[in-house]
Amino acid sequence: MKPCVLVLAFAAASPPHLARSDEPSILVAYDSRTGHTEKLARAIAEGVDQVEGAIAVLRRREEVEDDEILSSSGILLGSPVHWASLSAESKVFLERVGKVLVEAKELGPGTTPRTRAAGAFVTGGAVSSGKELARLSILAAFLNMRFVVIGGEEADGFGTLGAQATTAGSDPGLSEAELEEARRFGKRFASMTLALVR
Ligand SMILES: Cc1cc2nc3c(=O)[nH]c(=O)nc-3n(C[C@H](O)[C@H](O)[C@H](O)COP(=O)(O)O)c2cc1C
Repeated sequence: MKPCVLVLAFAAASPPHLARSDEPSILVAYDSRTGHTEKLARAIAEGVDQVEGAIAVLRRREEVEDDEILSSSGILLGSPVHWASLSAESKVFLERVGKVLVEAKELGPGTTPRTRAAGAFVTGGAVSSGKELARLSILAAFLNMRFVVIGGEEADGFGTLGAQATTAGSDPGLSEAELEEARRFGKRFASMTLALVR
């Protein structure tokens, strides 16, 4: 009986999506003005959490702590498409990741970066008005920071560069198919990250 009481007490004291130090954590960071990219991020985090041994740390990009960047085995960044690219706020987050890694001496001349995975996801108002460019811009920055990039798998949903959703026009909001693609992406990302870092 006693161990059960102790476990419950720990669970009640721990905020959701807080990684334990012994489990590889995957940071799902996102920028979102009107909530679409946030919904996609939540679905991706659900997919990550479906993989035994992985834990998703879901955060708005401005809430991410430096320690969460350093301790994560993988980082996924989600952005709304703004003018056919990632949002300025998402770019600010990427700059911060680089700065944190440099300051921790995990990036830069003479340093040995820890193996980390990275991925991208986006939402855009139109089917084809920058979603690919936005994801590629995010992935290029992560590659430059020595991350190992992991893509998605759904060619039909345009998700091979990472999960995506069209949120306006003839396809408003997020459909169940787009959310399911995002869950599958989270699951794939977590499985591959575990294989990479273990
Ligand atoms: C300033 C601005 C620029 C945008 N530019 C594009 C664009 O170039 N292509 C596109 O598909 N959607 C564009 N959109 C629409 C957003 O990408 C879309 O509404 C997205 O789902 C918003 O995500 P959020 O709710 O997470 O902020 C733009 C929206 C804003 C506010």
